[in-house]
Amino acid sequence: MMAAPDPWPTLSTPRLTLRPLRPSDATALSRLVDDPGVAAMTTSIPHPFPTGAAEAFIERMAQAEADREGVFALETSSDGFIGVVGFHPDDQGAVEIGYWLGRPFWGQGYMTEAVDAALVWAGEGWGRRYLLAGHFADNPASGQVLVKTGFLYTGDVVPRFSMGRGEEAPTRMMVWLA
Ligand SMILES: CC(C)(COP(=O)(O)OP(=O)(O)OC[C@H]1O[C@@H](n2cnc3c(N)ncnc32)[C@H](O)[C@@H]1OP(=O)(O)O)[C@@H](O)C(=O)NCCC(=O)NCCS
Repeated sequence: MMAAPDPWPTLSTPRLTLRPLRPSDATALSRLVDDPGVAAMTTSIPHPFPTGAAEAFIERMAQAEADREGVFALETSSDGFIGVVGFHPDDQGAVEIGYWLGRPFWGQGYMTEAVDAALVWAGEGWGRRYLLAGHFADNPASGQVLVKTGFLYTGDVVPRFSMGRGEEAPTRMMVWLA
């Protein structure tokens, strides 16, 4: 019988802790993600954010196969849970990075710091040779995070459905090589 993969590690950056999500994050996660400005920039976050959806997401991530998928909670010492960065498999077996931060924490370099640390681990600890990312064309802040952390534009722009918008939006695809 194969040993179960190790649970995801806890990573530290100068200002952040990246750690596995836990059930006690549900209240803060619900409060911060229930924001049209967060939902509209992601594919899979509905708005308004339904009751129980945070608990269901945390449970789903706890059950995920650790060699295929997982999410880090982002935490500061003063504010606790502030957002997430995660890796999710696509239909072709490639892995895509996704993230969001609660609005009070935007514009302070937190996500660049978090993605930098997550990518080091993805390459060196998780054994990923490449990762994909996609951001809506009207989300230059996310594009800037990805450029600053070493992603390159592939040139592909594909329509993707956003639950938060209730419609498709053009999505600029990017790739990162370990
Ligand atoms: C996108 C998001 C994660 C960025 O997090 P953040 O911590 O504010 O990002 P950072 O501060 O590390 O970096 C943002 C960069 O975007 C730049 N930026 C912000 N708004 C911009 C705009 N309108 N046009 C161009 N660049 C912009 C900032 O100047 C900064 O770059 P710089 O450091 O070179 O100046 C955050 O805004 C968020 O959670 N948004 C909603 C959800 C989302 O978009 N998720 C990603 C889906 S692909």
